[in-house]
Amino acid sequence: MKTVIVGRAGRMGKEIETVASEFGLSIVGGVGRETGLAKCLAETPGVEVVIDFSLPVATDDVLKACVQAGVPLVSGVTGVSESDRTLMKKASEKVPILYSANMSLGVQILAKALESLKGVEGFDLSMEEFHHRHKRDRPSGTALLLDDELQKRTGRRAAEIVSLRGGGIVGEHRIYAMSESEVLTFSHQALNRAVFARGACRAARWIVGRPPGLYSLADLLEKA
Ligand SMILES: NC(=O)c1ccc[n+]([C@@H]2O[C@H](COP(=O)([O-])OP(=O)(O)OC[C@H]3O[C@@H](n4cnc5c(N)ncnc54)[C@H](OP(=O)(O)O)[C@@H]3O)[C@@H](O)[C@H]2O)c1
Repeated sequence: MKTVIVGRAGRMGKEIETVASEFGLSIVGGVGRETGLAKCLAETPGVEVVIDFSLPVATDDVLKACVQAGVPLVSGVTGVSESDRTLMKKASEKVPILYSANMSLGVQILAKALESLKGVEGFDLSMEEFHHRHKRDRPSGTALLLDDELQKRTGRRAAEIVSLRGGGIVGEHRIYAMSESEVLTFSHQALNRAVFARGACRAARWIVGRPPGLYSLADLLEKA
């Protein structure tokens, strides 16, 4: 399946390129800050899917290029603004788009586990997230995703989200439920970037041939 990666030379782009063949994806092009996706798609015939793991600054151009070329998109970019999310929703009326701030299976399972806090009283909820020193956005996209899941599943958000940056930590999230007498901890640790890269490649296989729409990783896991 002919695939273009936006952010190909980045940490995640390189990881996706390494695992792509396991999913039958052939990387036929890559885009960075010096090259536009529209040009790349125009010069590369037959591209079937675009995977974007670049930065929010590219989101607008990526959406426009995918719509113009009629190519499905998998995006794992975090730190995207509300207006980018609105543009994404609009673009998904024309092409299928799967967006997830975290492409790992473990975080999807963690999100479901938060359901167990529904209706539980007397516990304060808070979150911590740890990432490598190069991570730009804070709180992380995953922390915001988990906070939305908390809200959806329990009607409550984390009172605080604490972000720590340092070293080479790929990604760790902890949600604490704290009462006067006990503390519950829900946690997820990504041990490598391949877990996200494999999730993105799986999503790329899945999205090709779907009708236009804005999909999440949960859709993939439920409808696979
Ligand atoms: N969803 C998930 O599961 C997940 C997991 C991990 C990371 N992420 C997210 O993935 C993204 C990339 O992370 P990373 O660690 O790989 O970052 P990175 O190493 O800094 O790589 C960023 C890439 O984006 C490219 N880029 C920057 N500006 C661009 C522009 N205007 N147009 C096109 N490409 C542009 C860079 O191009 P150059 O090579 O030309 O500099 C580079 O290749 C971040 O948003 C991160 O939060 C998501």
